[in-house]
Amino acid sequence: MEKINLGVIGLGFIGKVHLRNCLNLKSVRVVAAADTSKKALNYARAFGVKQLFTDYHELLKLKDLDAVIISLPTHLHTESAINAMEEGKHVFLEKPLARNVKEGREIVSAARKNGVVFMVGYPLRFVPEFVNLKSQVESGVLGDIQMAYGVDIAAGPFFHRAESTTPRPVPEWWLNKELTGGGALTDLGCHMINLLRWYLGEVSAVKARLGYRYNFDFEDYATCIVDFECGASAVVNVGWFSQSAAISVELHGTMSHARAYHSPSSKVVTAIKLILGRTPKFFIPYLKEVSHFVDHIRNDDGESQLSGEDALRDLEVIAKAYKNQVD
Ligand SMILES: NC(=O)c1ccc[n+]([C@@H]2O[C@H](COP(=O)([O-])OP(=O)(O)OC[C@H]3O[C@@H](n4cnc5c(N)ncnc54)[C@H](O)[C@@H]3O)[C@@H](O)[C@H]2O)c1
Repeated sequence: MEKINLGVIGLGFIGKVHLRNCLNLKSVRVVAAADTSKKALNYARAFGVKQLFTDYHELLKLKDLDAVIISLPTHLHTESAINAMEEGKHVFLEKPLARNVKEGREIVSAARKNGVVFMVGYPLRFVPEFVNLKSQVESGVLGDIQMAYGVDIAAGPFFHRAESTTPRPVPEWWLNKELTGGGALTDLGCHMINLLRWYLGEVSAVKARLGYRYNFDFEDYATCIVDFECGASAVVNVGWFSQSAAISVELHGTMSHARAYHSPSSKVVTAIKLILGRTPKFFIPYLKEVSHFVDHIRNDDGESQLSGEDALRDLEVIAKAYKNQVD
C-alpha cells in the first residue's frame, strides 16, 4: 500500500516528538514541516525534511500532501485544523481539541463537512497498561465499577523542554489562559476524563475544586468529583507541580479491583534512546496513536476510535467542571 505523505505543523515540544516518531513509521513519508521558528525548522531539516515553511498555510497548499499532524499552541487549533480540513487534508490534532466547546464544535463540524479522517491525540488510550484495564472492564472480571480514581500529575509547562543543556523559558502562551483555554484542568484533565469515559461511559455530573499553588490566574492543580451515567463515581486529581510524572487509574468493582500506571523511564535511559534515534518508552503511545491515525487513512475503515466527537465530550465535561466549582 502507498505511503501517506504527511506534514507536521508546529515543531515545539510535542511536535518534535511526533516528527521523530513519524520517521520511524514505515507507512509514512514526512514531506513537509511548518513552524514560525527558523530554529524549529532547522531541527526538521536535520532529520531530512525537505519542504519547510514559516507559514503553515503554504504547507497546506501542497498537492501531494495527504495528512497533517497539528501540534500548535491550543489557541491555534481551531483555525489551523479547519484550514487543513478545507484543503482536504486528514488531520491529527493535539489535545485538547480546542480552548472551549464552541471552538471544538466548529472543528468537529468542519471534519464532517469535508469528509476527512480526524483524530485527536490522546496517547493514554495507547498505553498497554491502560488498554489492558479496558479489556478487564469489558470482560466483566471487575463486576460493576462503582468507584474510580484518576491521577495525572506532571510538570506541565514548567519543565526543561528541549534536548539542550541550557535552560529554556516556558513558551509564553502556556501561561496565558486566553491562549490555553485553562490551566491543569484543561491540559491534564482532558486526558484523564477521556480515559475514564472510555472505561465508564458518559458523565452525568461533575464538580471541581481548583488550586493555585503558583498564584497564576489559572489553576495549576484541580480535584474533580465525576459521576457517570452507569452509576460509578470517580475522583480525578490533576496537577502541574511535579517533575516526576505520575499517571494512574484505579477501578473498584463489585467483583474485583485493578490499577494501572504509566510512568517515564529514567532520564538517562530516555536520553540514550533519543541519541540512538529510538522512541523512549514514555513516547511509544505517541507513536502508536499516529500509527493508528495513518492506518485509519490507509484502510479507510470508518470512524477512528478517537474521533473529534469524543474529544468534544471531554471539553463539555471540563466546561461543566469550571462552572460547578466547590470551595
Ligand atoms: N498529548 C500530549 O501529551 C501533549 C503534550 C504536550 C503538548 N500537547 C499539546 O500540543 C500543543 C503544543 O504544545 P507544546 O508544548 O508542543 O507547545 P510549544 O510551545 O512547545 O510548541 C508550539 C510550536 O508551535 C510554533 N508556532 C506557534 N505559532 C505558530 C504559527 N502561527 N505557525 C506555525 N508555528 C507556530 C512555535 O514556534 C512552537 O515551535 C498544545 O495544544 C498542547 O496541549 C500535548
